[in-house]
This record gives sequence, C-alpha cells and structure tokens, in this order.
Amino acid sequence: MLGNFTYCNPTKLYFGKEALDGLNAELPKYGKNVLLVYGGGSIKKNGIYDKVIKILKDNGKNVFEDAGVMPNPTTEKLAEGIVRAKSAKADFILAVGGGSVCDYSKALSVSVNCKEDPWDKYFIRFEEPDCKIIPMGCVLTMVGTGSEMNGGSVITNNGQKLKIGHVFDYSVFPKFSVLNPEFTFTLPKYQMVAGIYDIMCHIYEQYFSGEDDNTSDYISEGLLRSLIHSADIAVENPLDYEARSNIMWTATWALNTLVAMGKSTDWMVHMFGQSVGAHTNATHGMTLSAVSMAYYRRILPYGLKKFARFAVNVWGVNPEGKSQTEVAEEGLKAMEAWMKKIGLVMNLTELGVTEDMLDGLVKSTAVKTGGYKVLDAKEIREVFKESL
Ligand code: NZQ
Ligand code: ZN
Repeated sequence: MLGNFTYCNPTKLYFGKEALDGLNAELPKYGKNVLLVYGGGSIKKNGIYDKVIKILKDNGKNVFEDAGVMPNPTTEKLAEGIVRAKSAKADFILAVGGGSVCDYSKALSVSVNCKEDPWDKYFIRFEEPDCKIIPMGCVLTMVGTGSEMNGGSVITNNGQKLKIGHVFDYSVFPKFSVLNPEFTFTLPKYQMVAGIYDIMCHIYEQYFSGEDDNTSDYISEGLLRSLIHSADIAVENPLDYEARSNIMWTATWALNTLVAMGKSTDWMVHMFGQSVGAHTNATHGMTLSAVSMAYYRRILPYGLKKFARFAVNVWGVNPEGKSQTEVAEEGLKAMEAWMKKIGLVMNLTELGVTEDMLDGLVKSTAVKTGGYKVLDAKEIREVFKESL
C-alpha cells in the first residue's frame, strides 16, 4: 500500500536546444547582483560561459563570480563562497555546471546568512534553514545527479573524512533549471558513463525496497529501459542528440522526488559510494558502480521477488523453467555485463582504494535501514572487501 504523502516540485524546467533563452524570462524576477558559480573551467572551453555572461549583461545584471567548484565540493570551498557571496551582496546565485556546482550553490544559498556553522547545522544535524535563503537557478552541463530538480546537496568534509548529502525541503530547490542536451556533448566519456550509472543507481535505490504493489516500480522499470536503450546509443555516438536528450530527461525524473513518493527506499549503495568519495575523491558514479555488484548480490536473497521481476522487466530474462533465484541471478549477470560493456569502473582498486583503508571506509559509511537487509559493520566491510 502506498503511504501518505504531499507532492510538490517547484523547479521550473527549460528543456532543449533553445533552453538557455529561459534565462531571459527568469532573471528579471530577481535582484541586480548575480553570483555566477562554476567549476574548473569546462564552461569557458565549450563557450557556455560566454553565452551566459551575454544574457546576464543584456538583463542588466552586476555579475560576480565564484569559480573553481571542484567535483565533490568541500566545506573549505563553501567557506570561501560565503565570503564572495557576502561581498557581492548577491541577490541570486546562478549555478552553471554539473551536480557539484549545483549542489554547492544550494549549500551556499542556505549558508550565506546562516548564523551557525553550516556543516554542523545542515550536514551533521540535518536541520532546515531558518535564515534568509538566496534563491538559485541552474544551467546544467553534466547529466546524472538530478540536482537540477531536487533539494539534494552533497558536501565533503576532508578533515572529518565524511561526504554527506542533505535533502533540503522545497524552499532550497532550484527556482529553475536550464537543460540543453547539447551542453553535455563536450563531456569526456568517463564522465558521461559515470553519470549514466548514477542515474541507474538512483532508480535502483528507490526500486529495491519494499514489496508493495506500487506505480513507482512500473515508472522505474520504464525509466531503466529507456536509459539502457539510450545509453547504448550514446556510448557508440556521444553526439546523438536524441539519445543524449533522453538520458538527460531520465536523469531528472530518476531523482526529482517523484518515484520515491509513498514507498520505502534503500540508498545504501550511495552510502558506500559517499564513503569512497570522502577517502579518494573519486568520480561519484564510479564509486557506485565499483561497489554495486557486491552489494546487490548480497541483498538479492532478501528481496528475491523484486530482483526476479527486475530481471524479467528490465533485462528481458526469460523466466521459463527457471527458479526465482535463477531468474534473479541471471538479471544481475546481465546488468554486470552491460556495466562492463559501457565502460564503468567495476572495482575499488581502480579508484585508489587499498585494503588498509577498509576500517576507515566502514567508519565513514552511514547505515540506512530502508533496504531489503540492514547491514552491520562486518557486512559493510565485506562488501568493500569484495569490491576491491
Ligand atoms: O569543473 P569543470 O571544469 O566544469 O569540469 C567538470 C568536472 O570535472 C566536468 N564537466 C561538467 N560539465 C562538463 C564537463 N566537462 C566537459 N563538458 C561539460 N559540459 O565534469 C566533471 C564532473 O562534474 P561534477 O559536477 O562533479 O559531476 P556530477 O554532475 O556527477 O556531480 C557529482 C556531485 O553530485 C553529488 C555527488 O556526490 C558529487 O558530489 N550528488 C548529488 C545529488 C543530488 N543533488 O541529489 C545526488 C547524487 O547521488 C550525488 O551524490
Ligand atoms: Zn548519485
């Protein structure tokens, strides 16, 4: 049975080749001082920066910049951004980049006027903001996280070796997001496939939990089938607009809160992945792919019915004459073969993890209880070890 819920998604989306024009409709709604937030410079190389600056100037904005947001943005960078946003008297934050830039901008939007240490308040105590929030919008250049239409913000504290995500309420969602699939054409293949697996894993995290009959599982299976189909095309031809646009749209739906409504969710692969990220600074999607097979094989017996359904409905396994376990295991085999085919990282060693890091990794892994099996510290260690 579906649980009770209230559903609202306040982010307005502009999608397609002309999506950037949406800025002309949105920018006049906000004050004059715009803090433009971006990463390590990809937007300067591919020309997106120039296009955005022109629109900001055409709209009479005073543009201030906060550049150099790194993948897996840190508390140190956040502290620097707070100073910049304050000195700019920022009325609006425009994030131009991937999930890291978008997540960081959300964190900044609730930190500039925060009276306490934002890390402790938002990422340790998971409190909602009680200060004035600076509104933010996003121009997305990397597909995967869903940050463009959700309240998620993942920040890394290097000193504490913790990478933690806070899912903020609707007040922190981007006011709008600009999604032009062509803006993702310059992504290196490594980032593209990491993003594809991030999308896939977001769907898994919400699908592999609960035995109820619910609409979400059917939506999830449809999203997964579309993703697999389009990813196969995009890996062969990264400039295929149709495939890249479908992947972009799937990413948004995979984590814009819809499929989680009224049902339990897992999120344990992300807890493993965030721990790996905190210790290695590896690419998010690859931290998930590297631990997934060990984790899903371990929980399969506890969610057998769902794993068998997954095998048939997502991977096209023929169940005839086979036991439920055989069907479920065949599904995971098909998934593993596909992951290898598209070029995902399938072990932690490749991400720089060594055996002497296992205790630290276990310590940095939060335990979620919504999945088919709640893992204890020993089992968490085993999953990491099996993933080396
Ligand atoms: O910094 P620049 O130079 O822009 O380069 C970036 C970065 O090196 C590059 N890139 C982005 N767009 C590009 C491009 N290169 C060429 N052409 C383009 N069009 O790609 C690299 C990775 O970017 P990043 O933003 O780090 O990737 P992603 O979008 O995967 O974001 C990862 C972060 O999001 C968090 C992750 O934990 C990680 O910190 N997540 C956020 C979530 C959310 N808000 O709901 C959920 C996710 O599960 C995830 O945890
Ligand atoms: Zn993710």
